[in-house]
Amino acid sequence: MKKFIFTTAFSLLATIGFSQWSGKEYVVENDPAVLEKLDEWQDLKLGFFVHWGAYSVDGLCESWPVVSEDVDWLTPHADIRKFREHYFNELPLQFNPTGFNPDQWAELAEEMGAKYFVFTTKHHDGFTMWDSKQTEYKITNPKFPYANAKYADITGSLFEAMRAKNMMIGAYISKPDWHHPYYWSPSFDSPGRNVNYKIERHPDWWRNFTDFFYNQVEELMTDYGNVDILWLDGAWADKNNQGQDMKMDEVGQMCREKQPGILVVDRWVGGRWENYRTPEQHIPSESNPIPWETCMTVNCCFSYRFEDSNETNVKSGRQLTHKFIDIVSKGGNLLLNLGASPQGWFNKKEVEAVRNLGQWIKLNSEAIYATRAIAPFAEANVRYTRSKDNSKVYAIVLLEDGEMPDKAMLPGCLVAKRATIKDVATGKTVAFSRQGNATLVDIPKKKGTAQYAVAFEISEVEKMAGKAYGKSQAAKDAENRNL
Ligand code: GLC
Repeated sequence: MKKFIFTTAFSLLATIGFSQWSGKEYVVENDPAVLEKLDEWQDLKLGFFVHWGAYSVDGLCESWPVVSEDVDWLTPHADIRKFREHYFNELPLQFNPTGFNPDQWAELAEEMGAKYFVFTTKHHDGFTMWDSKQTEYKITNPKFPYANAKYADITGSLFEAMRAKNMMIGAYISKPDWHHPYYWSPSFDSPGRNVNYKIERHPDWWRNFTDFFYNQVEELMTDYGNVDILWLDGAWADKNNQGQDMKMDEVGQMCREKQPGILVVDRWVGGRWENYRTPEQHIPSESNPIPWETCMTVNCCFSYRFEDSNETNVKSGRQLTHKFIDIVSKGGNLLLNLGASPQGWFNKKEVEAVRNLGQWIKLNSEAIYATRAIAPFAEANVRYTRSKDNSKVYAIVLLEDGEMPDKAMLPGCLVAKRATIKDVATGKTVAFSRQGNATLVDIPKKKGTAQYAVAFEISEVEKMAGKAYGKSQAAKDAENRNL
């Protein structure tokens, strides 16, 4: 393993916007299969993320309500012990998604323009969404109603359906497990999200737990076909926090043996097993040389919320499109999350929003997939990308609802005199004039989702203003539009 560490080399480039990564080393992998997959993954831009588990039955905030932490985003229960009884014992008996059809999910993934899929095979509560031999707290336990259904091995069925649509496959798995007696020992109370005993006093308990974790990951790596990404959540289960050493070297090496080139994302931990960074619900203000992916929800949160719940706050197709373009312009990927319902589908409004995003992407795909970042990335309401071979620059003008001007200024982008500029969606050449360090282009009239943003392909650029241009007020304003 080449121990080249980015922290110092790139500390100037890593900006404040990346607070969830700052101070964490990034180790550049030297396994060619991993580097190749990472590059391929960076071409894909959009992933479909789904949170689904027994918690969906009650429309809960994933597994979090079982945790006893006095934080503002968790409502205290009248009696946490009673609630846990309900959560762990009753919800799995009620979870019976008879409407679930993995092929429909795969169609939706394709329609939204996603090229990879990440699924919560197991969230922090430990409820296992595949037919694991390591636990009875799983969807296929014969005591649970869905056990004999055609798609009972939900993870396996989904991976298969998504692969049939050529998606890369990502397994989300949480490292902690609040159901496991050697993570939350029944001998003690469980005051918070962490292990509830002293690992140094009970090393055998901890070994038992990490063996269990290793064995579960091994099942996913062995019995579920090609897996491209292991997306590990629960960053607090880490050796630097109460000695919660998850033996990541053992786990990571086993994954690489079973799935050569697999990307391992021990999120927010840093080091060898975090091949890319995962800012959450947030778009960094700048590009970064470290590969990254923002995970973001279409609704307010990762898990399903009943349509009539006052907790919903669904992003529109236009908002999603703008956020996606902004991320792509900074060289990142978007892992866009929907929470699946108890029956196995998604809220109507959310489906509509992601379909609209997909329509826009379909029209403008050349300016998106397999592109790379080019400074100045974002100026006012314009975002830039470039083709991987550097032969073309794309300028994407973000438009607000009702805004359809005849012309747009491309600040920081002076095209060559002899350049050709085309409207990506139609391939038609458009007129332009050079204005100082900028270019003024004609905007063709657009209808429907095409009005969200207009992408231009530029054959030759004389000067991109880059960082020498400084960060304009317009760029800062544009950032604020993402909040
Ligand atoms: C956060 C949430 C967790 C969710 C994850 C997805 O860490 O706490 O519930 O699964 O984000 O990114």
